Amino acid sequence: MAVGGGIGAGNGKQYEGRVTPFVIVACLVAATGGLIFGYDIGISGGVTSMDEFLQKFFPTVYEKQKNATGHESQYCKFENHMLTLFTSSLYLAALVASFFASATTRKFGRKISMTVGGMIFLVGSVLNGAAMNVAMLIIGRILLGVGIGYANQSVPVYLSEMAPPKLRGALNIGFQMATTIGIFAANLVNYGTAQMKANGWRVSLALAALPALIMTIGALFLPDTPNSLIERGKKDQAKEMLQKIRGTPNVHDEFSDLVDASAVSQQVRHPWRTILEPKYRPQLVITCLIPLFQQLTGINVIMFYAPVLFKTLGFADDASLMSAVVTGLVNVFATAVSIVVVDRFGRRVLFLEGGIQMLACQIGVGVLIASVFGVSGNGTFSKGMGNLALALICVYVAAFAWSWGPLGWLVPSEIHPMEIRSAGQSINVSVNMFFTFVIGQLFLSMLCHMKFGLFFFFGGWVLLMTVFVYFFVPETKNMPIEEMNRVWKAHWFWGSTFQMMLWVLATRAVTMMLDCN
Ligand code: BGC
Repeated sequence: MAVGGGIGAGNGKQYEGRVTPFVIVACLVAATGGLIFGYDIGISGGVTSMDEFLQKFFPTVYEKQKNATGHESQYCKFENHMLTLFTSSLYLAALVASFFASATTRKFGRKISMTVGGMIFLVGSVLNGAAMNVAMLIIGRILLGVGIGYANQSVPVYLSEMAPPKLRGALNIGFQMATTIGIFAANLVNYGTAQMKANGWRVSLALAALPALIMTIGALFLPDTPNSLIERGKKDQAKEMLQKIRGTPNVHDEFSDLVDASAVSQQVRHPWRTILEPKYRPQLVITCLIPLFQQLTGINVIMFYAPVLFKTLGFADDASLMSAVVTGLVNVFATAVSIVVVDRFGRRVLFLEGGIQMLACQIGVGVLIASVFGVSGNGTFSKGMGNLALALICVYVAAFAWSWGPLGWLVPSEIHPMEIRSAGQSINVSVNMFFTFVIGQLFLSMLCHMKFGLFFFFGGWVLLMTVFVYFFVPETKNMPIEEMNRVWKAHWFWGSTFQMMLWVLATRAVTMMLDCN
């Protein structure tokens, strides 16, 4: 059974042209959009563990931590809802913003969405750096979230449309690469500012303005994608742009595919209603499940709470931050691996290998923690055990960084036809942000209540998502973006009449149930 679908390596339609320096530079500039996303992911955990920040904005949390007797369960000593709300509120703002971004991206182009995102994020970072009270802090965070919603909605689509098919994976992963660099930079900044006598938190938060400036200025100089130009009726400009990015005047085949895709797109007035039609079921299912699964790998437990987690594992304050830096570096380097192999080996191999590797590490960490802390949560890690846990966590981060990390943004951005691409990407962003919020909000409570079982919980999800990919995610490497429908048609499940019948039956059943009520 060819579960990956019938279209594999090199079967994609070949267009004329070469990989031009122009397209590489445009994609590199656009990818900097990931910096703001990453900086924010990495900065929050460190800032919320700084005493001065807690004293000023969350005094009760500060008191609780200071007065801790040391006899509390290791699993529960950091549980606090106010604090987690600070970390995760941004993701709700991003979720809502991504829907507005969808309309902007479709009507005004990808470039405008990126610029808007960068500017709003910039204002948010200034407010946060200057925060005098909790209100300024929260409003600032909401603006950061809006900026991220816009950037994450538009940048991956921009990259997938600009890139030539055979390099689409590598260029798109530029976004994830920038995200990991942002996280790593934030880890370093936190490490530095934590040593400052005063206002370290302010410096950490205000420095978010730097990636925002890089992205906004970059976006101002970017050309829009040929796909978006055609979608907005600017055919001549689109053709010129296509010739420029492909480095040849002979772009006839690709251009006519874009025009055809746009003709279909023009007939669609309501992308949100259209994406619910049965013929887009494969895209809809995959675009909902991939971001959900990406978050259920448990990666943000490490990204948000690495300092807290390492303290729980018995590292001293400094060692905790240093360990966070170590995982940050692994994240960057392992992402580079996926850039090199994604268009050669394909998306499925990375998904499957990454899944197995993550699962093995999660079981290892769970067993290790169980053996030291048991169910009571009392115990201390020896140096050797601590180092083993750190090593396992690094191997887990590496697996995520070359699989679900980049592919969670790449695959949803390349599977939708033009008419529903913006809507599809908004669904991807919003589902991702919603579950980032949920995990950010619940992790400390989950650790407190599920104890070492938390690692088995995420491991179970990783097993499920790996099986899902094996059966239901087709290989998309090398396939031109406006020709992607061929991938679904050739797939054993999505291309079968059985699948169509299943949906028809399911829809009928739901309608009958509704009628009965
Ligand atoms: C995810 C983030 C995660 C980051 C880690 C991204 O792809 O969407 O939630 O924190 O990878 O590198």
